Amino acid sequence: MKIAVVGTGYVGLVTGVSLAEIGHQVTCIDIDHEKVKKMKAGISPIYEPGLEEMMQRNIEAGRLTFTSNYSRGVKSAEVVYIAVGTPQNEDGSANLTYLEEAVKSVATQITQSIFLVIKSTVPVGTNNYMKQYVKKHLKEDVKVEVVSNPEFLREGSAVRDTFEGDRIVIGTDSKKAAELMEEVNRPFNIPIYKTDMRSAEMIKYASNAFLATKISFINEISNICEKTGANVEDVAKGMGMDQRIGNQFLQAGIGYGGSCFPKDTKALVQLAGNVEHNFELLKSVIKVNNYQQKLLVEKAMKRLGSLKGKKIAVLGLSFKPNTDDVRESASIHVVNELISQDASVVAYDPIANENAKELLPPSTIFAESISDAIINADCALILTDWKEIIKFPLQHYQEEMSYPLIFDGRNCYALESAKVAELEYHSIGRPIIN
Ligand code: UGA
Repeated sequence: MKIAVVGTGYVGLVTGVSLAEIGHQVTCIDIDHEKVKKMKAGISPIYEPGLEEMMQRNIEAGRLTFTSNYSRGVKSAEVVYIAVGTPQNEDGSANLTYLEEAVKSVATQITQSIFLVIKSTVPVGTNNYMKQYVKKHLKEDVKVEVVSNPEFLREGSAVRDTFEGDRIVIGTDSKKAAELMEEVNRPFNIPIYKTDMRSAEMIKYASNAFLATKISFINEISNICEKTGANVEDVAKGMGMDQRIGNQFLQAGIGYGGSCFPKDTKALVQLAGNVEHNFELLKSVIKVNNYQQKLLVEKAMKRLGSLKGKKIAVLGLSFKPNTDDVRESASIHVVNELISQDASVVAYDPIANENAKELLPPSTIFAESISDAIINADCALILTDWKEIIKFPLQHYQEEMSYPLIFDGRNCYALESAKVAELEYHSIGRPIIN
């Protein structure tokens, strides 16, 4: 099938490349010329395991092309996916400007009937509005059927999630569109769940909000564990064995970050408010997360007294491992707070240093390795559970730091190993080792 994908952020690009991989003829459209040039050469603009190889394979096979030209991109496409960003407005609501621009550009360029598939995360009712919006901007007498097709990919495992996902959600009031979407997605061999457009839109927000709730819940439990001497890892394991609870997303830490949970939870609170529903539970989830993101600095201050002039190593800057994305990462709050307390911060991330430079205060020093970061440090804060950090030999903290004081926000090390390495080791929801 001939498919166009508008927007080559991580959702659009992974979608486009994966659709090519299952045999469709795909053109990805992006208004950023430089990015298009790179992608044409087989270079992925984002770090996503497995993506670049798949991209190159499909370019070579002639199934995948890139363009900044809308009219060329949508020419003779049967299906057009929209995967542009819906960033957050100041009041927490979703900003639909990019979506409107993309839909308008498609509507004014097509000369054939198409199925318009909206992948972007949008408030309930948006796709219905898009139906009218697209009609208003059509230049030719053609038919456009709108489909809501939210995505459930995780950054860092987006390729695997596409091929091994739990479900594909299709929201449309057109039987023809539903059938076509089934045909497009059949090779993925993933259960397809068909519903109406509004419910599909809500499934996306409700899923992210529920996962965020699980995380804030276990983080609250971890804080109680710290005060009662229980071990949150054992608690989560014991809870997760109950299939009604499930064992995923119960890893206590320094709160959720990234471009999705923070934005989508706020957008759902806002959406609820619009229909005069006070989503108290979700507001608390957000509040707990804000608190959790600052927890390590608070612990360090309590332990060290003043942070003024202290050298603090910050290990891991991306919002989770296997991505170079630092958007809404706890590291931003942590580093800003440390610097406002006059600490000297030396930060290290295996791949996100460059992106972090744009978001962290200019006085942040960036190290080339974990060892460089911790040398002579008064304290180390671990913010991301990168494999490189988990595998880092603990005796190096003992040998290289001024004093081996670790605040581990991701429970990277076994308590026993911290004891053996003679560290003063504070983690999340587990007893302190010293
Ligand atoms: C999330 C969802 O998991 C995807 O299903 C969804 O498609 C995506 O948002 C989206 O809306 O685009 P993502 O933001 O890539 O995916 O990352 P997650 O793996 O969900 O992690 C989010 C944050 O939660 C990270 O900061 C992670 O460290 C934290 N987390 C996750 C925990 O603190 N504990 C856990 O047990 C799991």
